[in-house]
Amino acid sequence: MIAVAIDGPAGAGKSTIARKAASELGYIYVDTGAIYRAVGLACTQKKIDPSDSEKVVEMLPETEISIVFFNGEQHVLLDDKDVSSEIRTEKASMTASKVSAIPEVRKFLLDLQRNFAKNDNVVMDGRDIGTVVLPNAQVKIFLTASPETRAKRRVLQLKEKGETADYNTVLADIIQRDYDDSHREIAPLKAADSAVMVDTSELTLEQSIAKIISIIKEHIE
Ligand code: DC
Repeated sequence: MIAVAIDGPAGAGKSTIARKAASELGYIYVDTGAIYRAVGLACTQKKIDPSDSEKVVEMLPETEISIVFFNGEQHVLLDDKDVSSEIRTEKASMTASKVSAIPEVRKFLLDLQRNFAKNDNVVMDGRDIGTVVLPNAQVKIFLTASPETRAKRRVLQLKEKGETADYNTVLADIIQRDYDDSHREIAPLKAADSAVMVDTSELTLEQSIAKIISIIKEHIE
């Protein structure tokens, strides 16, 4: 089996690029951020403070999270309900960041992620795929872009969805989330030693996709 690990901060374009690369190669694409978002959503639904690790850990045994594919598209189920759209809000993203710092949450989600790479060729994106989840991945890519570029892209995305977005607030959120994700004690956001670094700040989406596909092909052919 071939595994491609794509890690990097929020807003570097990981999910769009990884999805396209997977489809081009005929691999399945797994977006691991979605399951952290589902744990965050479970906290919101159960009125649990996502920073209260004791309460979050207590909730885990009664929380069922799974990933299913409909027509090749990933859907996330929380207690058998499809929450794929509900987890795509700024609030869900901040809540996910908080629960992702809890070691038991990371452990709870580990096998779910690893199992995908057992039977299929995968492109998996996240923060710790190359370092923790799939340390033996044949290809590891660390995708990044400047906080300003990522904030601009995020504002555009939100506007396209008809949501109002203030650039400075989005930028501050991105900087805060980068800090939280890279300073947590367990599985912090960092490039694996053998990762190929790709900065997409000056690249269009098409150029980024082409670059990632060519890196993957170089490693597997
Ligand atoms: O990729 P995303 O923005 O959907 O991820 C949401 C949060 O989940 C993010 O703040 C970091 C966390 N996350 C993580 O800790 N490990 C992963 N493999 C994926 C996401």
